[in-house]
Amino acid sequence: MNILQLFSCIALLIVGVHSIKASKDIEDWENALEDFDEGTKDIGRLYWLFKGIKKDDVGKRCIGPNGQRGTCVSSFNCKIKNGLCLSPSNGCTTGICCQVTAKCAQTSEDGSCVITQNGATITRNTGSGTNRVYKIPKVKGVCQVKLEIDLFELEGEVAGDCVTESMTVLGSSTVSRLEICGNNTGQHMYLEYGCASDITIAMKLAEGSISVYSIRIYYIECSSPKRVPPYCLKYLTGINGKDRSFNNNRGQLNNQNYKVCVAPVEGMNSITWQECRDEPLGSFSVSGRSGDPEECAMSKSDWVGFLGDDTRRCGQSLTAAPITVNSRPFIMNVHFDEAELRTPNHIFWQLSDPCDWWNSEMSNGDPLRAAVRMDGDRAIICLGGGSIPIIDYDLLLSLPNLPMELLSMLRNLDTDNTGFCLEYSQH
Ligand SMILES: *[C@@H]1O[C@H](CO)[C@@H](O)[C@H](O)[C@H]1NC(C)=O
Repeated sequence: MNILQLFSCIALLIVGVHSIKASKDIEDWENALEDFDEGTKDIGRLYWLFKGIKKDDVGKRCIGPNGQRGTCVSSFNCKIKNGLCLSPSNGCTTGICCQVTAKCAQTSEDGSCVITQNGATITRNTGSGTNRVYKIPKVKGVCQVKLEIDLFELEGEVAGDCVTESMTVLGSSTVSRLEICGNNTGQHMYLEYGCASDITIAMKLAEGSISVYSIRIYYIECSSPKRVPPYCLKYLTGINGKDRSFNNNRGQLNNQNYKVCVAPVEGMNSITWQECRDEPLGSFSVSGRSGDPEECAMSKSDWVGFLGDDTRRCGQSLTAAPITVNSRPFIMNVHFDEAELRTPNHIFWQLSDPCDWWNSEMSNGDPLRAAVRMDGDRAIICLGGGSIPIIDYDLLLSLPNLPMELLSMLRNLDTDNTGFCLEYSQH
């Protein structure tokens, strides 16, 4: 073995040792993007080792003068990665606060992706471009990623479906597939890899869209105390807190199946859930107008449930009294089915058979009748006789003397829901 061989052997050894060390860091960003320059990365790492920046400072988050997020690295390391030195940098005792810009892993359109190294931030600015796919490869020792959604203003839903714009999460074992749209600023997600080698975030934006999003992505090591149970899409900490369904206040989204977990605070064995009290317009709107516990318990459409409470909750208010569960773990199940009805403009119901109007020859050319034929969401109520057969849905609910069967159907129509904001307190 000549000197050169010996040297490269030592170098390999150091790289090897380092990569084990790096995986002990709670969040290791460098591998976040598939096309990150391998050579540069290794030089950076070796340099980092020889330079001897204190381990407890490397990878530490720091904040630039305008609030930009970066990571403490050596200035050489920052330069070699084409990073932007944020100065003055708050939070680094050694090294400088560096923000690294790199290409996104896989993009189907042009665009930039900023890795701040304390998380990969995926952003899309307003302007042209439509669909983009971000792949977050599994890195050795990493079991989860956390998405922190700093900004998310996409087109909203139509009857619960994200038609024109959406973000879809694929590949995680936490949720097999989750699609959201509308306003989700401030939301977060934990996504477990399971057996997957990638988690994919697919952003669909309309042509010429002015929508914006900015999402920070963090790797979480398998052994990290920051790792949450693999079934928790959301994980709330604190003795008190709040959770909103995605796009809450605007429209409930379809196909939502996930768990919201609350980290138990030491010594706390109970949790109480209620509607967010600071919401002016009420904060629970989950399928149906009845809120009848028995009907909700059998609800197959949309409901939330609390582990230990063991009944499904739906309706337009949670319950009169807050719900307390006296057992841990603290978990809320969210289930919104695959469809919201379009608001029926008209309800079809035959009070008498035959319904005079519907069956009248004279209604044959009626545009309303044609509409009913064409669109299953619409219907007409005929009160018989010569009464006007168009009844507003909400008016209908307030009508006296409706047959029980009809009333029940109307009250359980899965339409016009806006989801929930719930607050909890542990005790
Ligand atoms: C988006 O939702 C968040 C949380 O509900 C809210 O604070 C914010 O004002 C909303 N943004 C817009 C533009 O409505």
